[in-house]
Amino acid sequence: MPSPDYLTMHRRSLADPADFWREEAARLHWETAPPTVCDYANPPFVRWFAGGRTNMCFNALDRHLPERADQPALIAISTETDQTISLSYRELHDRVNALAAVLQDHGVGLGDRVLIYLPNIAEGPIAMLACVRIGAIHSVVFGGFAAPSLAIRIDDCQPKVVISCDAGMRGGKVIAYQPLLNEALRLAASKPLAVLLHSRGLVPLELLPGRDFDLDGELTRCAGRTVPVVWVDSTHPSYILYTSGTTGKPKGIVRDTGGWSVALLHTMATIFTGAPGEAFFCTSDIGWQVGHSYGVYGTLMQGMTSILYEGTPVRPDPGIWWKIVEQYRPTLLFTSPTAIRVLRRQDQAFLHQYDTSSLRYLYLAGEPLDEPTSEWIESALGVPVVDNYWQTESGWPILSGFPGCGSLERKLGSPGRASAGYSLTLLNPERGEHGETKGILAIHPPLPPGCFPTLWGDDERFVSTYFAERDGEGRLVYNTFDWATMDDAGFVTILGRADDIINVAGHRLGTREIEEAMSAHPAVAECAVVGVQDEVKGQAVVACVVIKTDHLPADETARLALVTALQREVDLRVGAIARPREIHILAGLPKTRSGKILRRGIRALAEGRDPGDLSTLEDAGVLAQVRDAVTQH
Ligand code: PRX
Repeated sequence: MPSPDYLTMHRRSLADPADFWREEAARLHWETAPPTVCDYANPPFVRWFAGGRTNMCFNALDRHLPERADQPALIAISTETDQTISLSYRELHDRVNALAAVLQDHGVGLGDRVLIYLPNIAEGPIAMLACVRIGAIHSVVFGGFAAPSLAIRIDDCQPKVVISCDAGMRGGKVIAYQPLLNEALRLAASKPLAVLLHSRGLVPLELLPGRDFDLDGELTRCAGRTVPVVWVDSTHPSYILYTSGTTGKPKGIVRDTGGWSVALLHTMATIFTGAPGEAFFCTSDIGWQVGHSYGVYGTLMQGMTSILYEGTPVRPDPGIWWKIVEQYRPTLLFTSPTAIRVLRRQDQAFLHQYDTSSLRYLYLAGEPLDEPTSEWIESALGVPVVDNYWQTESGWPILSGFPGCGSLERKLGSPGRASAGYSLTLLNPERGEHGETKGILAIHPPLPPGCFPTLWGDDERFVSTYFAERDGEGRLVYNTFDWATMDDAGFVTILGRADDIINVAGHRLGTREIEEAMSAHPAVAECAVVGVQDEVKGQAVVACVVIKTDHLPADETARLALVTALQREVDLRVGAIARPREIHILAGLPKTRSGKILRRGIRALAEGRDPGDLSTLEDAGVLAQVRDAVTQH
């Protein structure tokens, strides 16, 4: 299906959504064609292609067998264990069938949840595909999350089965998963029927009789079994992916089946230009949204080869990704601005040592892309950078460049224009620092196919969190919580979050989650966490704490010990990714007269900016203390 130019496509998607998406839906295999396109009878809830029946595993694997059984489907490279596993479509299909059979033997069926706690290894996509094959709902939890974070997710989605392994590795360090998982299962009220554990040979496993099973033994037992796909309604949830919100409780983003599959295939044509048979190297972990969309489903549904990567971009040396590009010749590379900033600091000879000429485009998303980074990598690789902006909630790019629609039109500093189906507006527009109009980016519902239909088990929170605002004309809108500017041609520039979300290296963290973890330490009376600009990671976590008088450190050694103990608290409760870069001990936190912590003021001072209007501040002296603390650092 040739794609029209961008403007024609976007205009049509809004003017005639039913026709537009009916045509797009033809990219997918439907066992039963959808009788309807968009059911928006109950705003803001929308049901795309309701009544149509399909299956994501069928579209990702079975559908390609006649033509590409021997083509690699998945190449999982680990520079941590020095292993590469290459699976053809036929082999991946066989592995997925065996695991689907194991899941069925353990009582997993339509609508049951399966929690996947694995590193970025082949078993992850295999487990995900096995779930959707039988209509089970997977929830992948990023391997870097600590036991209490895992326990909250277990209690929220109540999995029947958990799939995990002995250990993950990062930067050469082995992270044993079983102690984390056992602790999470002890903390959680919901108890799974079975825990299936894969052994990578990194750490010995101890199986709890009756609950824990050796996954590898189970797979051998079920090898060769074929499990028929379960055709599910387009609106059937395919997975739940947790993401940080402004409260301590993460939000279970629900994904449908048909709408998202159609959206992914649409993006493969218009944004990614990926042809069947080509390879797509997506460095995102499967525990994040980008990994779901382009590390697994979008890529496989398109009949491409997915290159999965466990490791850092600089080990064994900073040429590793370019070496992979030379060896496997992907046409598309998707990573984060942080990764590129890390590589930019390294000796550039590493980049020029390898042949990267297979690459057509480089996709970057997850956090703001600064111009020097974008320009550097574009000239170093000699391919255009396609910045794209989206959220776990949307499941696919909201803003992007569209190289698949004729020519790639871009504006420096902007991730581009609205994707098909997105009608954008700015809320509470005001004059920005440079005379431009800025406001909070919002979307007129219905949200396009593929966006989250609700939060898991919490329709009320879905509405009250995301649909609380109205636009200037009183119309219902979806709030992205991102500050943005938009020009007359529709190019949007993202300025940063309007809520308390911190974005560290493209990973969303809620200030509340981290504050709650630190408050668990007996010495802490109060604390405030903010995200401040960081040269490499985009943002870094900075914490201000008030210590109970009887716990105040007596000297510098005691202070350092306390800071380390607080960092450890965050490591253990949220995960090392959320560990504060700085912890400042203060006598008080800056608060408004109504008692709200002025995080905005702390952030401004930590970034060396003017904290702005502080007329609501209760005690101006406290802010002077914050300034001293953060600038001394
Ligand atoms: O603040 C925006 C930022 O990341 C948030 C969404 O993060 P997450 O749910 O983890 O989804 C990531 C999927 C790519 C957004 O609300 N963000 C994402 N992409 C960009 C971005 N900020 C600026 N430019 C981007 N390209």
